[in-house]
Amino acid sequence: MIKKCLFPAAGYGTRFLPATKAVPKEMLPILTKPLMQYGVEEALSAGITNMAIVTGRGKRAIEDHFDNAFELESQLSGTSKESYLKDIKEIIKKSTFTYVRQKKMLGLGHAILTGEPLIGDEPFAVVLADDLCDCDEDGVISQMIEVYNQYQCSVIAIEEVPMNQTSKYGIIAGNLVDNSDDTYRVTDMVEKPKEESAPSNMAIIGRYILTPDIFNILKSIRPDKNGEIQITDALLVQAKQSKVIAYKFKGRRFDCGGIEGFIQATNYFAKKQGII
Ligand code: G1P
Repeated sequence: MIKKCLFPAAGYGTRFLPATKAVPKEMLPILTKPLMQYGVEEALSAGITNMAIVTGRGKRAIEDHFDNAFELESQLSGTSKESYLKDIKEIIKKSTFTYVRQKKMLGLGHAILTGEPLIGDEPFAVVLADDLCDCDEDGVISQMIEVYNQYQCSVIAIEEVPMNQTSKYGIIAGNLVDNSDDTYRVTDMVEKPKEESAPSNMAIIGRYILTPDIFNILKSIRPDKNGEIQITDALLVQAKQSKVIAYKFKGRRFDCGGIEGFIQATNYFAKKQGII
């Protein structure tokens, strides 16, 4: 049973400066909804109600968003505008939010390790809110939980990217698992390789199911050349020690950590909702 979802949300969002000077990048909206809310909704739709958020300085807007706003609510109460808050109030009612601050930006692996006190000794999901996913039926985390239930090991979501984009992602190599066309047993994994040294074009996207032994592995991982501890390196150790499954998810992903993907997502959801 996966009960908790970890949201690393301590990054500076430098690609969106100056917008992210005082506003966390996770709070930038696609239409009227912050990126973070899409991620929380995806976790909730997978039956997860415990949201564990790794924040940092300047991120308090995230906590305020997922809390009651009595003054605003009483102002809008009984008016036609009350409906605007219906969805977020429902999310707040259904979920528990816990927070821990990452004191230094030392990479995604370090952010996940910072979340250990919120997770404890159980398997958990990880959502990077700036990878925004839209699926026809089950969300990506729901799809991954099904894979986890079958294999009982860490699961990472992947998608094929053009070879000239490998340096933006963790890239895996793997062997298709018998009788499957979307599930690979990972044999290798490299963080942001150049096209020439990439083991494939299968890129890790910001969705993981991790078994809790990952925390001890992360503690033993050495920082990379930029001084960052990478989750990709820890997952490679896990793949070698035991097993890691890569799953080609069904759906669309937008890289909202960059302006191009952000605009594409905005257009996509605006069209989907008949706004443009
Ligand atoms: C992180 C991971 C990378 C993964 C990516 C997905 O990189 O380190 O392996 O492919 O998320 O979005 P970041 O985008 O934080 O640089």
